[in-house]
Amino acid sequence: MSVMMRALLVAGISLSGAGIATAVYANDIRDSIEDRQSLMKLVGAHNRGLKAAVDEGNAERVQSLAGELQGVAAMVPEMFEPEAHTDNADGIKTGSLPAIYDRWDEFVQLAKNLEDAAGALSDTAASGDAAAMTDAFQELGKTCGACHSQFRLRTS
Ligand code: HEC
Repeated sequence: MSVMMRALLVAGISLSGAGIATAVYANDIRDSIEDRQSLMKLVGAHNRGLKAAVDEGNAERVQSLAGELQGVAAMVPEMFEPEAHTDNADGIKTGSLPAIYDRWDEFVQLAKNLEDAAGALSDTAASGDAAAMTDAFQELGKTCGACHSQFRLRTS
């Protein structure tokens, strides 16, 4: 695991604590939006790292990054628990649509799909089958779009 990724993972874990504190002690829309955006940036960083590692055929790195991403993905539901979205964010920039809270179970399922796809990618990398690893990375990518297309504001 690179130093950068280790730092990101530690950041992810401490963010998770911040998310719980936010949900329990305060209803600060700005904090909850910033926390979830940081978590999503972490998801994005792992995805970019995975793309590079898959392209290089570096199975060991894929396995470790995908394992980390699995853990980060597991934090997604709690980070979105405080009800904060484009309609109540009061000018704070967010891509979180109110549909997240109208169809919460679907949103949680899509987060679970991301978590499971990351787990499957990690397992596939461990198996040493390069073609299967590429396929599993493509499956992972589909889980991003499946959620963004319904629950994230399209800005372009
Ligand atoms: C369960 C739903 C869901 C899944 C799965 C998901 N995202 Fe997101 N993502 C969102 C939502 C909602 C936002 C908008 C957050 C906001 O601005 O409040 C977002 C925002 C982002 C952002 C912008 C963060 C920022 O503010 O700078 C990135 C980057 C991102 N997602 C990458 C990914 C990638 C890559 C994947 C797949 C590996 C993924 N996401 C999977 C729901 C999801």
